[in-house]
Parts: sequence; C-alpha cells; structure tokens
Amino acid sequence: MNAASVYVFDAYGTLFDVHAAIGRHRAAAGPDADRFSEIWRTKQLEYAWTLTLAGCYADFWTLTERALDHAFDRVPSVPRALRRGLLDAYLRLDAYADVRAALTELKGRSGFSIAILSNGSPRMLDAAVEASGIAALCDAVLSVDAVRMYKPRPEVYALVTGRFGITPDEAVFVSSNRWDVMGAAAFGFRPIWINRSQMPEEYADLAPERIVRDLTAVPTLTL
Ligand code: LAC
Repeated sequence: MNAASVYVFDAYGTLFDVHAAIGRHRAAAGPDADRFSEIWRTKQLEYAWTLTLAGCYADFWTLTERALDHAFDRVPSVPRALRRGLLDAYLRLDAYADVRAALTELKGRSGFSIAILSNGSPRMLDAAVEASGIAALCDAVLSVDAVRMYKPRPEVYALVTGRFGITPDEAVFVSSNRWDVMGAAAFGFRPIWINRSQMPEEYADLAPERIVRDLTAVPTLTL
C-alpha cells in the first residue's frame, strides 16, 4: 500500500450542508420544511443515478432544479414563491462548522494535496467554494461534468488519479454519503465515512477504513 498524498472530499453533505437552503427559509416553508428538503435531496441523487444508468446526462444544477420542482409537487404546503430563494441559497450553501479547521490543518501538513470531487456542476462548485471561503485551501475542484456521468461510476473517481498522476491507494476519500464511500472503495481509494447523521452501516463488502462523526478527527487519523 502506497502512502496517501491526496485528500479528496465529497462536496454536498460532506463540506456543504444541503439542508441549509431550507434552513434559510424555514419560517416561510412551514411545518413540512424538513420533509420537503429530504425529498429535494433524495430526488436530486436519484436523477443522477438513473440518468447515468441509462447512459444519459444533464448537469447537476438542472437536476437540482427538477428535484426542487418535484418536491413542490409532492409537498403543496411549501409556497412555490420560495423557488428562486431556495435555488439562490443552494448556490451558496453554508459549509459545516468543522470544514475550515480540518482543511486548514491538513493543508498545514507538508506533502498533502487537497481536492474536491463532486457531482456538482463547475458553476455550483465555484459558487459554494467561494461563498464558504475555502478556495485557497483546495488544490483542485473536480466536477463530474468533465466525464458527463455521476458517482459512483469509476470514470468519475478516475478524475482524481488522472489529475494528480497517482494510483487510487494514494488518495484518501472523505464522504458523508455511504454510497459514495462504496464507490470510492470499489475504485481503490482509501475511504473515510463521515457519518454525520448516525446512519447504520451498509455495503459491508465495500467498507470505509475509518468511520467518524465529523471532519474534526480527519487530520489526525492514521491510515
Ligand atoms: C456530491 C454529491 C454526492 O457532492 O452530493 O458529489
């Protein structure tokens, strides 16, 4: 096993809180706000998986808009007047509180590169990285848009090995999405699962090397 040289972070759910958009409009959204936000996220991911299985592609911003419209159809109590505000909020999601310190500590250790690998479109990722003030900490921000298919296709994870000229086992892959950890493990990355919402373990045959609750411990883990 080679020593790790690149730390790769998933974006949505790992660095950026996908439920922060509804959080900014919670009062106006009403009592079904959380269910609405769950449907929005679940459908956004489902569209990415199903289109990729079908050999089709539309960028992640388009899927985010379509999933939002589906959520409005499913939860009529949430006013459609929020559509523009929710999309604007999604472009500038809050980073989780542990992000900046963890990336800064990793960056301070000589020899590690830091990358983001995400389903997000380049425009979405640029906006989120800029809004959260972590641009200077990232050596590369890689979007699936370059290969027009979504995680967990191996072609997506190969964007990292191609960009840095490394073998998969030289990358530590950090994600809060267990299915993304599965894809990363299948590719040969060394995955860390950030189990933010205390979900039960899945995909037992494609397991993470470590499971932690948030990003705080990541820089001190020995892999
Ligand atoms: C991403 C998805 C998994 O950022 O949220 O790639």
